Amino acid sequence: MPNQVQSLPAFGAGRHLLSVQQFDRDLLQKLFDLADLVRPIAERRSVCTVLDGAVLGSLFFEPSTRTRLSFESAFLRLGGEVTTTTGFTFSSMAKGESIADTSRVVSGYSDVLVVRHPDEGSVAEFAAASIVPVINAGDGAGEHPSQALLDFYTLSSELAKRGRQVDGATVAIVGDLKYGRTVHSLMKLLSLAENLTFRLFSPASLELPAKVAEFARSHGHKVIGCASVFDALTGSDCVYATRVQRERMTEEALNSANISGNLLNRAILERAGATETIIMHPLPRDSRMDSFDLAADVDDLPGLSIFRQTDNGVLIRMAIFLIALGCSPDTVRATTEQRPWDATLRWP
Ligand code: NCD
Repeated sequence: MPNQVQSLPAFGAGRHLLSVQQFDRDLLQKLFDLADLVRPIAERRSVCTVLDGAVLGSLFFEPSTRTRLSFESAFLRLGGEVTTTTGFTFSSMAKGESIADTSRVVSGYSDVLVVRHPDEGSVAEFAAASIVPVINAGDGAGEHPSQALLDFYTLSSELAKRGRQVDGATVAIVGDLKYGRTVHSLMKLLSLAENLTFRLFSPASLELPAKVAEFARSHGHKVIGCASVFDALTGSDCVYATRVQRERMTEEALNSANISGNLLNRAILERAGATETIIMHPLPRDSRMDSFDLAADVDDLPGLSIFRQTDNGVLIRMAIFLIALGCSPDTVRATTEQRPWDATLRWP
């Protein structure tokens, strides 16, 4: 029997949010407008109860800090309540329970599920057995749609500050392009824009899957492989750096990948004349020695946008819940009031 939830439209054809490919430009704009609408709530200037009585089931079977906490914070800021389980050890999956059984059970306790799991395609399995909408918070090396949405939103607002738009932009994407699911989702989502140039650099063993490059090309974008990060920076409006996804690699593959030092640092940006470039990263940044990641010596550069990305993650995830649970902008306005308690506001 077809899953009833699947047939209720919210994200393109389905109620679940599994892939960025469910988005067209209109839905993207609708989500970004909702994110703008809830900004005062995320910034604690007002309080919203639109999700009063709703329960989020937050299931994270892989490590997470910002994705889990920002999804949970987003739900709480909209007046809902959160139940959560992390890792396999503390769930019945450790007793051999299937994804289908776990999903059916937990969806009976919740109004929406957010799921992260190490296997590609696994979140779609959760969705197939769930009686409520399921949101993919990362399925192995597959996709990470909410991250791509907040990345697109951030890139668009950073470019807007410079009087530019995403259409026509040149975006350098560097690091682990093979296992970095945020890159796969972002390149597919950015493909909704027009006339982009992607300048890619990765170590030889961590190249972008051909199907992702093909996807961008088939949407009319240029995808250029570069010999170094320095080369990738040439003419780029933004550089999106990523961490080596060590947890998805064998010891042997890691040793032969020939990665050490910094992927991107201040000296490289200075040499490329790119100190004003927008710098993005999905985080976490691997700050250990020789981690081949973004160095901390870029942190006072004006284009550093990594913490604006994490802040925007709350707004975007609030907007995702509003769409998943069918809340209109008017219902949000009708359930939002001035904050009656005192907060120390640190938002920029
Ligand atoms: C990313 C992920 O989990 O894919 N983190 C995140 O959700 N912001 C990136 C990473 O782990 O490197």
